[in-house]
Amino acid sequence: MNNNTNLCVKVGVVIHNFVTDSLIKYEFVMKRIIIVLIIFLKVILSFAQNYDESKVGNYRLPHLLVSENKNRVSSFTDWENIRRPEILKLFEDNVYGMVPTYFDDISFKVINEDNKAMDGKATLKEVDITVTRNQKTVTMHLFMFTPNNINKPVPMFLVINHRGTKTMDITRQNIDGFWPAEDVINSGYGISGFDVKDISPDNKENFINGVLDQLYPEQLEMNNGMRALGAWGWGASRVIDYFETDSSIDETKIISVGHSRGGKASLWFGAQDKRVAITISNESGNSGAALSRRNFGETVEVITKNFPHWFCPNYPQYANNEDKLPVDQHMLLALIAPRAVYVASAAEDLWADPKGQYLALYEAQPTFNLYGIDTNLPVKMPEINKQIIESHLGFHNREGKHNMTPYDWQQFIKFANIYFNR
Ligand code: GCU
Repeated sequence: MNNNTNLCVKVGVVIHNFVTDSLIKYEFVMKRIIIVLIIFLKVILSFAQNYDESKVGNYRLPHLLVSENKNRVSSFTDWENIRRPEILKLFEDNVYGMVPTYFDDISFKVINEDNKAMDGKATLKEVDITVTRNQKTVTMHLFMFTPNNINKPVPMFLVINHRGTKTMDITRQNIDGFWPAEDVINSGYGISGFDVKDISPDNKENFINGVLDQLYPEQLEMNNGMRALGAWGWGASRVIDYFETDSSIDETKIISVGHSRGGKASLWFGAQDKRVAITISNESGNSGAALSRRNFGETVEVITKNFPHWFCPNYPQYANNEDKLPVDQHMLLALIAPRAVYVASAAEDLWADPKGQYLALYEAQPTFNLYGIDTNLPVKMPEINKQIIESHLGFHNREGKHNMTPYDWQQFIKFANIYFNR
C-alpha cells in the first residue's frame, strides 16, 4: 500500500467511526427524547382531565324508574320484577360483564386457627376455599379475625383487597391502617379479607390466570363476559358461601368493603349478591360510585385504556361517548336497594370525583323510597369530615388523599352500628 492509500484508509476509518459513534449516540438520545415525550404526554393527559366544576357542563342521566317499555315504575314490586333486572342486564352487557354463579363443587378448609390472637382478644382463622368446575380447581385464601368477648355470631366486614396480603398481617406485627383489624375487633365486629390475585391477578397481561382460564374460559369469548372486577366479586360471594358454614359469623350482617378498584368491585358485587347487608365503596371513582356523565376527573376513555382487564369488551365503545351509555352509576347504587349503601370519598382525591360520587347516591334515592325507606339527602355535598346518614344511605368526604384509613373505618363502623341497631 502506498502512502496515499494508507491515508485514505485512515480517513475512511475515522469517518466510519465518527458516523457509527454518532448513530449510537443519536439512537441513545432519540430513545431518551421518546421516553421524555411519552412521560410528558402522560402528564398532559392527566392534566387534560377536567377539574374545573364550571366546565362539567350539562348532562342528562338515564331514567332510573322508567322501564324500557316507557312505563313509570312506581312500586317496589315493579322495580324488582321489571326495572331491576333490566338495569342489571345493562350493566352486565355494557360495563362489567356477567358473573357466573354455577360451579360443580366448593370446599372449605380451615388451615390455621388461633383463639389467642391479638393478645387473646380475637380468634384468627385462615381458610382455603376451593372451587371446582369441569375437573379444574381454584383455591382462594381467606384471612379473618372474630372478637372473643362476644358469645354470639358477629357481623363481619369483608374486604375485597387489591393491596395484597401485606396489608392483612396475621401476626399483627405490621399493622396497616388499610385493614385496621384491632379497631374493628374492639368495636365488636369481625374483619376478613382476601387478595384479589387469588381470583384474577390485577394486570392486563395475566388477569385470566385464575378463575377465568381455569373455571370459566368461555367467558373470555364473550363481549359481555366476566372480567377482573366481576371475578373479584365472584370471589367475595364464595367467601359468603363459607361464612354461611361458620357459626361464629352472623351471615345476615355481612358488610362488603373495597377501596378504589376494590370499591368498584364491591359495588358490583353488592348489587348482585343479596346476602350483602351493607355495601361500602371507598373512593371508587369512575366506573364505581361516580357519575360517568359528569366530566370531572377520570373518564371512561382513560380507565378503559389503562385498565381494559377490569371491564367487559363492550365498555370501551363509551369512551368519550358517555351519553350513549344506557346506564349511569347512580343506577348501580340503586340496584343495592333495599339493602344499605355507604359511599366514602377524600377531598383531595379529585381523580375519583367526590361530588360525582355523592350525586350518584343522591340520584339513587328514588329506588330506596319505593321501599318506604325515608331518605332525604340534601343536593349539596356535605362538608369535609361531616358524615351524613340518612337511613340506609351514608356518605363522608374525608380530608386528605386517596387511601382507606382508620378514619374511614370509624365512619363505616358508626354507620353499621346505626344500621344494625347495635
Ligand atoms: C387508578 C385508576 C382508578 C382506580 C385507582 C385505584 O387511579 O385510574 O380508577 O380507582 O387506580 O384503584 O387505586
